Amino acid sequence: MKFFIDTADIAEIKEAHALGILDGVTTNPSLIKKSGRPFKEVAKEICDLVDGPVSLEVTDIDCEGMLKEAAELAQYGDNVVIKLPLIPEGLKACKRLTEQGVKTNVTLCFSPVQALLAAKAGASYISPFVGRLDDIGQNGMEIIPQIRQIYDNYGFETEVLVASIRNPIHVLDAALAGADVSTIPFSVFKQLVHHPLTDKGLAQFLKDWKEVKA
Ligand code: E4P
Repeated sequence: MKFFIDTADIAEIKEAHALGILDGVTTNPSLIKKSGRPFKEVAKEICDLVDGPVSLEVTDIDCEGMLKEAAELAQYGDNVVIKLPLIPEGLKACKRLTEQGVKTNVTLCFSPVQALLAAKAGASYISPFVGRLDDIGQNGMEIIPQIRQIYDNYGFETEVLVASIRNPIHVLDAALAGADVSTIPFSVFKQLVHHPLTDKGLAQFLKDWKEVKA
């Protein structure tokens, strides 16, 4: 499973990148706002920093406007993936961009049938938001194996990119369900590596090592 980081914070991207296991970045308008920086400047910096795909989201809500924005965003780097909302106009834009050979990430997906539509429109990635479903009392992770099965049934190549991840169990369940990608907030990235028994065990090894004669 590929690991993307879900942030527009350059320091977080650099730290995750330094681990050597970062495959890409996803952003959205709210994450850009949180960065406190001008969109173009931060988007270009992210594209230069990371080799893998960088999802940049359009903000227009009609197909022609989305296509115009996509043409502008595509200039920020060869690794740009155009993020489109899962609405009828977004699907139209997805189809058109796919025909032009542009990579797309269809976002704000909350059901397996929405994911089926995105795949039929040729999306490179589908982003089901598991955490936001949990937030309204549904088990968000339930839709991931369903999307996996639908895509496998029909041989769709759209990659399942699990989004709105809130904790390490979401990452575990995404991997068990055969998701292609998890996009992970920096806070969860840090949680993934730590285990109290690792820290305790290492402290004991280092303590005992001091008492070993060379
Ligand atoms: C996905 O691409 C989105 O940027 C993100 O995962 C949304 O997560 P949130 O529900 O924590 O805002």
